[in-house]
Amino acid sequence: MSAIIMDGNALSKQIKKEIKLKIEQAGIRPGLAVVIVGEDAASHVYVNHKQKDCAECGIHSERFALAADAGEEKLLALIDELNNRKDIHGILVQMPLPKGYSEQKVIEAIAPEKDVDAFTLQNVGRVMVGDYTFAPCTPYGVMKLLEHYGIDPAGKHCVVVGRSNIVGKPQAMLMLHKHATVTICHSRTPNLTEITRQADILVAAVGKINLITADMVKAGAVVIDVAINRHTDGKLYGDVDFDAVKEVASHITPVPGGVGPMTRAVLMQNTLNAAGVN
Ligand code: GUN
Repeated sequence: MSAIIMDGNALSKQIKKEIKLKIEQAGIRPGLAVVIVGEDAASHVYVNHKQKDCAECGIHSERFALAADAGEEKLLALIDELNNRKDIHGILVQMPLPKGYSEQKVIEAIAPEKDVDAFTLQNVGRVMVGDYTFAPCTPYGVMKLLEHYGIDPAGKHCVVVGRSNIVGKPQAMLMLHKHATVTICHSRTPNLTEITRQADILVAAVGKINLITADMVKAGAVVIDVAINRHTDGKLYGDVDFDAVKEVASHITPVPGGVGPMTRAVLMQNTLNAAGVN
């Protein structure tokens, strides 16, 4: 039997509608500053989507586009200005930054209470101990999707493939807080198939088309594909061989239309939280 396709587009629309309603009821005007440095086309598309989501929710967004050679000092000065603005509740600096910028230094310049990505060391630490206001958007979006489809991680073996600071590591933490048994695999894991085949919930976050094939998935597993890879054919693919794996899994996320829209919907939720409403 073919897997249930987890519809991130539909759920993200529902979440954004709820956020819009909460903003109207609270009579507030949350503000998100979106900072982008350089001309990376994909990053500009992502930022466009985020601003469109803001408009849909009734969140005021302001875009700050700096040239790649603007320099770290100018970027840090902008963040400082945004940290001090009362009408800006959330600050997002789109990653990756061009060469010559220290991402960690830039992230640390963001006031933790405006760090809606949860990238600062303080917020990373808070996620680690399980006492946080902002959860990192992609892993948080995955948790919302699982919850919506009635999948409780408690007692399940969750295998996360990928160990990035943005997805793999915080995903493992959020799963752990929900009482899953968690294994993190990465490029140096020699027996990947042996481990992925044990997964009740498999999260792929590497950035390699067709990394996860049907033989790597246990029958009935939930398969979450976080990656967005642009193929030479111009289309977007995840890490999972979708057509084959959907015949083995119980649930699967498509790319596009799975995790991506959920990441953006929970960014709106984090911005609402930053403005003091839950
Ligand atoms: N680049 C890729 N994903 C993200 C994200 O979630 N936030 C930011 N700021 N940059 C990214």
